[in-house]
Amino acid sequence: MATASSASAAPVLVADRLAKTFAPGSGDGAHVAAVQGVSFSVAAGEMVAIIGASGSGKSTILHMLGGITRPTSGRVLLEGVDLAALDDDRLAIIRRRRIGFIFQRYNLLPELSLVENVALPLVLDGRPERECRERALEAIAAVGLEQRAEHRPDALSGGEQQRGAIARGLVTQPAVVLADEPTGALDSTNARSVMRLLTRLVEDRGLTVVLVTHDPAIAAAANRAIRIVDGLIAGPDGESVSQ
Ligand SMILES: Nc1ncnc2c1ncn2[C@@H]1O[C@H](COP(=O)(O)OP(=O)(O)OP(=O)(O)O)[C@@H](O)[C@H]1O
Ligand SMILES: [Mg+2]
Repeated sequence: MATASSASAAPVLVADRLAKTFAPGSGDGAHVAAVQGVSFSVAAGEMVAIIGASGSGKSTILHMLGGITRPTSGRVLLEGVDLAALDDDRLAIIRRRRIGFIFQRYNLLPELSLVENVALPLVLDGRPERECRERALEAIAAVGLEQRAEHRPDALSGGEQQRGAIARGLVTQPAVVLADEPTGALDSTNARSVMRLLTRLVEDRGLTVVLVTHDPAIAAAANRAIRIVDGLIAGPDGESVSQ
């Protein structure tokens, strides 16, 4: 998607009074106000951590930022585009091209090689086969896994699988990479190495990352942390921005 040069100072991502209430699962259950009006913005080339206790609403916020969950109220602007204003087809295209997702459990497909896994977002977008492979290999090199490109995921360590998932997350050169507890399944050595990799990609490639974690040590690697308590931004390191 083209961005005017004058827009370079505009935030890549804006959460504007985001709220999500889940309907009760059964007839007599209560509504869950998971997110209750959260506003912040993320600039290009920034790594922002969303930190908070289990159940505080972190994943729900990330899913709304990524267009996976539609907010009950409030808006998400990605590169100035209001995600709520898009129909399902347009939203799917934006999700595929402009947003990279990284999950706690890597989610690499076991029957595909690493390079095939990393190429998948481009293949699904209908890019030519050769371009898919070349760009996938370039992303794999960026995470230092050149020697593992033809391996299947089960032949990779957990840390390598997560680095592969990061390569898949950035292969489309998305506007933002959204990562939900990306080090949550790793031991501390591999967790540090994955965080060093993400930090380097932000510094060297200008990648923009929003990362959910409950671990203050992981959040400390980010440029900024937004603390969530009971679905609201809290604490001195939080911010309350009305756009
Ligand atoms: N699909 C859903 N239906 C009903 N309630 C939900 C749904 N998804 C999340 N919730 C509730 O919303 C609240 C916030 O959940 P969320 O997954 O965002 O928390 P979290 O901060 O990511 O927690 P964790 O650190 O454990 O992953 C919780 O009370 C949760 O039970
Ligand atoms: Mg979560």
